[in-house]
Formats: sequence, C-alpha cells, structure tokens
Amino acid sequence: MIKKSIYILAIESSCDDTGAAVLENDRVLSNVIANQDIHAEYGGVVPELASRAHQQNIVPVVQQAILKAEIDKKQIDAIAFTRGPGLMGSLLVGTSFAKSLSIALNIPLIAVNHMQAHVMAHFIKDENQKTPDFPFLCLTISGGHTQILKIKSPNDFEILGETIDDAVGEAFDKTAKLLGLPYPGGPLIDKHAKLGDKNAFKFTEPKTKNALDFSFSGLKTAVLYFLKKNLKENSKFIEQNLNDICASVQHTIVNILMHRIILASKRTGIKNIAIAGGVSANSEIRKTIKNGEKTYGWTTYIPKFEYTTDNAAMIGIVGYFKYLNNDFDQENIMATSRLKIND
Ligand code: KG4
Ligand code: ZN
Repeated sequence: MIKKSIYILAIESSCDDTGAAVLENDRVLSNVIANQDIHAEYGGVVPELASRAHQQNIVPVVQQAILKAEIDKKQIDAIAFTRGPGLMGSLLVGTSFAKSLSIALNIPLIAVNHMQAHVMAHFIKDENQKTPDFPFLCLTISGGHTQILKIKSPNDFEILGETIDDAVGEAFDKTAKLLGLPYPGGPLIDKHAKLGDKNAFKFTEPKTKNALDFSFSGLKTAVLYFLKKNLKENSKFIEQNLNDICASVQHTIVNILMHRIILASKRTGIKNIAIAGGVSANSEIRKTIKNGEKTYGWTTYIPKFEYTTDNAAMIGIVGYFKYLNNDFDQENIMATSRLKIND
C-alpha cells in the first residue's frame, strides 16, 4: 500500500514574526514569514504593536502558505501552532487562529514548544543538510534564550547550562543599540564585524558558578562604560571604530559560547554538536563551530539560514513528529508565555 502523505499547516507567532508553513511529511512545501518593521523605530519589540501586527498578518500569511504549497486546505491533516514560550499577546493570536481553523476544518490541533522547534528544525528533510544522530548537544541561541541542551530523543531534552541573566541575542541587540544601530542589531553587528579587527579591543569573559551557564549582562555594562570613556576623549569614537568594536564584541560573545560548548562536549563525551535559534545565523559562530570538526573531532550540524530565526517550518516538523505519535491537543489548550524545554 502506498503511504498517504501527511500535510501539516504550521503557525508561528511567539514574538515579532508572523509565520505559516505547509509540510508534506518532513519536507517543507512553503514557509512564509512576515517581519514587523514597526519595532525598528522603538529599538526593540513593543508587545502591543506585535500582537496587533500579528492580527493583521495572520490571514494573508496563512493564505500565502497554502497557495505556495499548491494544496487545497481540505488536504491539511493537522494544524500545529506555537504554544510558548513568547509574548502572551503574540502567542494568543496564533493560538486562537489555529484553534478556530482546526474546528472549521475538523482536523486535529498540535501545540508546539517554540524552543524544541528551534532544535528540531535540524530534522527538516533537505538534500543538502544531514540530520543529527542522537544523542547530540545543541547550543540554542536566540533573542530570548541561551541554552546548552543534551538531546537524547525527539522529546527528551536536558538543560546542561543556560543564561543566568540576558540571552545572547539581547547582548547583540543591546550592544547594537549602544552603537546607534537599529533593532534587531545582531545581523548588523555581524555585517560590520566582517570588516573589523576582532582583537582591536578586549572585553573580559564573565565567570559563572556552573561553568556551563552563561552571563551576558556584565558584557553589556562593560561595553557601555567602554564607549562612555572613549566618547569623552573622542566624540567620533563610534563612527571611526564601528567595525572594530563590532568585531571585538562579537568575538567575545563567540568565545563565551565556544568555551561552554567545548566543556559540555568534554564532560558528556558527545561529539555531535548542533546550533539553533536566531543567533545561529551569525557568520563567526557558524565558522567557529564548524572548525570544531578539525580541532575536536566533532560532527557539526549548522541549520539553513531560513530555519535559524523564527519561522513556521520548525513548528511544522515538531507537529509532524507529534502527528506520527498521535500526540494531539484539545481546544482548551492555552498559550503559555513561560514554557520549560520539556513541556
Ligand atoms: O530565534 P529568533 O528569531 O527569535 C527568538 O526566538 O528570540 O532570534 C532573534 C535574535 C535577535 O536577537 C537577533 O539580533 C539575532 O537573533 N540574530 C543575530 C543574527 N541574526 C539574527 N545575531 C547575531 N548575528 C546574526 N547574524
Ligand atoms: Zn525563536
């Protein structure tokens, strides 16, 4: 008997990107994302504006995803959506939409943990990407989270270390803000860093009680005082040294991340190393992790760019695995802004 394809419609609305994707089994047929430029002028995500923009975007984004996938909505087998973690107002838009559509189409509903989805994006079938073997370590680095995870199976995640204050994406975005760069500043720091000298300025690496934990609030303060001091002596300090500052801060951040993942690999003996989340789009992190293949004998898994920052395809792949396990949710399932990694 020929196995029927499973079509999952996935919706992502945890922060400031409205995403919809259609998957046929573990392959992506469409992956549509509407970014919200409105936050750039405020220097960060404004929750109320984000939920309003989700409301405006969700119908056209879902329509486009179905259209691009070239399927009829009657073919959809289940709807997967981001339950959390994230901004409550944003999550509610995707959650309510997913629930209504599942009732209208009379198909199952699947709630997905956004942080698991970042990791599981590695299991999206793609000719040019290999999927990780279990167990593997994943450095999950985004605007809201920074964790080293040990992944033993598709639904067994253990936190080995995590940030005790800011997320690494915040360290990038807050540094960018101090430099007068618009939100989100991470990609811009990456761009300027390519033209700068990473050894031009030195910033100290913070120590944490658990050597696998992270701390980034000290770095933000160090950059602030460093800029204040230098601007006092030269008001054009930032514009004259922008590339070098970006390269030096980025290099410090990459060192902090690398020292922890190297230690986690040594302690666990696991050499399958993955990165995930928005900050895994960073070119120096990608290059440095990849170099671990030669230096430490790692097998590395670097996600495709479109699956690093928030997207619905990653929600869809978790939805697909849950569908195969008949792991469905009822209409009374609630959006949850704080969701632990195994929830
Ligand atoms: O995963 P994501 O899209 O959203 C969250 O779930 O938080 O991550 C967004 C974060 C932002 O802080 C953004 O500045 C950062 O990822 N980011 C980068 C790069 N691209 C995105 N940070 C450094 N270098 C990049 N190339
Ligand atoms: Zn994310």
